[in-house]
Amino acid sequence: MRLPLAALALLVAAGCADDATPTTEPVADAVAEIVPSGPDRAVAQIAEVDGSGVSGSVEFIDLDDAVEIRYNLSGLSAGMHGFHVHQTGDCGPDSTGTPAGAAGGHLNPLASPHGAPSARPVQRHAGDLGNVEADASGRAVGVRVDSVLAFDGPTSFLGKAMLVHGGEDDLASQPSGDAGARVGCGVIRRADEAAADTTGADTVATPAR
Ligand code: CU
Ligand code: ZN
Repeated sequence: MRLPLAALALLVAAGCADDATPTTEPVADAVAEIVPSGPDRAVAQIAEVDGSGVSGSVEFIDLDDAVEIRYNLSGLSAGMHGFHVHQTGDCGPDSTGTPAGAAGGHLNPLASPHGAPSARPVQRHAGDLGNVEADASGRAVGVRVDSVLAFDGPTSFLGKAMLVHGGEDDLASQPSGDAGARVGCGVIRRADEAAADTTGADTVATPAR
């Protein structure tokens, strides 16, 4: 696209005017008022762990007093799969070589036992999101609302790891529901930061800044 010469001249003139103006703050304020700012969003791009073939995304949307969680996963075996926020935003192996072991245990800032997502905050890990159910084609798609996890404060999931397991979380066994191997993992990042990172899921194991 080419700008007419007159338009270019106007732009140059406007640029000179801006240079002569000591502050642009009023302009920034005006833009902030005009552009609607939606709810906070975060996303984890889920990558396979140890050749599992699992992939997809988990999105978090701030509802002020709760968080909406939208998941879209594929490559799973049919049935139930443990679904948790783990405490460390690292999908690499741990020191013993366990795939995605570096993500550590379930996010548990309140020092609670493992439990069901419907349990009270002192009776579940903040990261306990129970299970997702995959259909016969291996897809698990759904939405849920959680009132323990949050964008801010001690139960924040930002910078943590979203994990999907090969087996079902029984919602009772300690310390993690006996959900089996880690088959999918992604670091949860603010959506605008995730979008700005053009290298995408390849950097999933790299700590954000
Ligand atoms: Cu887990
Ligand atoms: Zn747990």
